[in-house]
Amino acid sequence: MTELVNVDDFEAAARERLDPGPYGYYAGGSGDEQTLRANAAAFGRWELRPRVLVDVDEVSTATTVLGAELSMPLLVAPTAFQRLAHPEGELAMARAAAAAGTAMCLSTLSSVTPAELADAAPGAPQWFQLYWSRDRGFTQELLAAVVEAGFRALMLTVDFPVAGRRERDIREAFALPDDLASPNLPVALARRDFHAALGGIVDARLTWRDLEWLRSTCELPLVLKGVLTAEDALLAAEHGAAAVVVSNHGGRQLDGVPATLDVLPEVAEAAGENVEVLVDGGIRRGTDVLKALALGAQAALTGRAVLWGLAVDGEQGAARVLALLREEVEVGLKLLGCRTPAEVTRAHVRLAGPAV
Ligand SMILES: Cc1cc2nc3c(=O)[nH]c(=O)nc-3n(C[C@H](O)[C@H](O)[C@H](O)COP(=O)(O)O)c2cc1C
Repeated sequence: MTELVNVDDFEAAARERLDPGPYGYYAGGSGDEQTLRANAAAFGRWELRPRVLVDVDEVSTATTVLGAELSMPLLVAPTAFQRLAHPEGELAMARAAAAAGTAMCLSTLSSVTPAELADAAPGAPQWFQLYWSRDRGFTQELLAAVVEAGFRALMLTVDFPVAGRRERDIREAFALPDDLASPNLPVALARRDFHAALGGIVDARLTWRDLEWLRSTCELPLVLKGVLTAEDALLAAEHGAAAVVVSNHGGRQLDGVPATLDVLPEVAEAAGENVEVLVDGGIRRGTDVLKALALGAQAALTGRAVLWGLAVDGEQGAARVLALLREEVEVGLKLLGCRTPAEVTRAHVRLAGPAV
C-alpha cells in the first residue's frame, strides 16, 4: 500500500474499503450537495498572510476549549454510527482522540452508551451530542447518564428538526445493519429510511425557551451546534450557551446554506466575549484550521476526516489522521509566524484575489 500522506489519501483508501452504502452515507450531503461543496471550497477563497522573522523555534499547538486543555485546536465532531467504519467504532475513536490529546463528542446515534465511551478512554475530555427526543423522561435519564459518566459538555444539535434529504442514501437503498444498536434513543430505529424515522423521534417543537429546562436538568456547559447567523448567536448568548458551533452539519441538512467559514466572522462578532465559537465543515488540512482561527474560531471540529482514518485502520487510522492534522497545524503556525493558536488573528488572512 502506498503511504497515506494526507486526509484525501485516507478518504481514497476508505472508499476502497467501505461498501458503497456506508461510504455514500459518510461522504454525502443533502439535495444537490451545494453546501457540502461550498464548505471545502471556502478554504480556497481565503489566503494566509504570513509574518516573517518571528522567533518560531518553540511552537505549541495546545489550546483551551471550555476549560479543557487540548493538544490542538481541533476536536472530533459527533458522527453517527461509527461501527459502519470499523467494528470497534466509537470506542476506537475515543482511544484515538485521547491518544491525540483532544476531545471527542459522542453522537446520540452511537452504538455505545456514554458510560461505555468513558470506560474506553478514562479521564479523557468527552462531550455528548444530544438529539432531543419527544420523550422528555428518556432525555432526562440520558442526560443523567451523561453526567454520571463524567462528560464535560452537552452539545445540542439545533439544525435537525427533521433530517435533510440525502439522495446518495436513497439511490443506494442504504440500510443500517440489523446488529447495530442505538441505546441512546427511546425507541428502536428503522433500518431503512432511518433518517426519516429519526425525524419522528427528535422533537421538532423545541424553541429557545426549552433551553431553560435543559439547563436546569443538566449542569454541563451547553454548546449549541448548528448556528449560522449573527441573530442566533446573540440568542445563544442571551440563553446562557457556553459555546456555539458554526456548522451546517457537514452539508447534510439544509442544502443552500453558506459555507461555515464564510459566516464564521459574523457569528464570532455577535457571540461576544462570553461564548466560545467553534466551527466545523470541510476541514482537510492544518491550514484550514488556521484560517478558521483567523476568522474568529477558538477551535475547529472534524467529522469525515477522522471517519476516513477509522475506516482505514480503526483506532490507529483515526490516530494517524489526528496526528497528521496536528503536525500540519504546527508547521502552518511556524510558517505563518505564530507561536500559539491564540496568536493567529484576522490580520493573518485575506480574501483571495488581486487587491482592488
Ligand atoms: C456520517 C456523518 C454522521 C454525522 N452524524 C451526526 C450526528 O449524529 N450528530 C450531529 O450533531 N452531527 C452529525 N454529523 C455532522 C458532524 O458533526 C459535523 O458537523 C460535520 O461532519 C462536519 O463536517 P466535515 O465532515 O466536513 O468535517 C455527521 C456527519 C457525518 C459526515
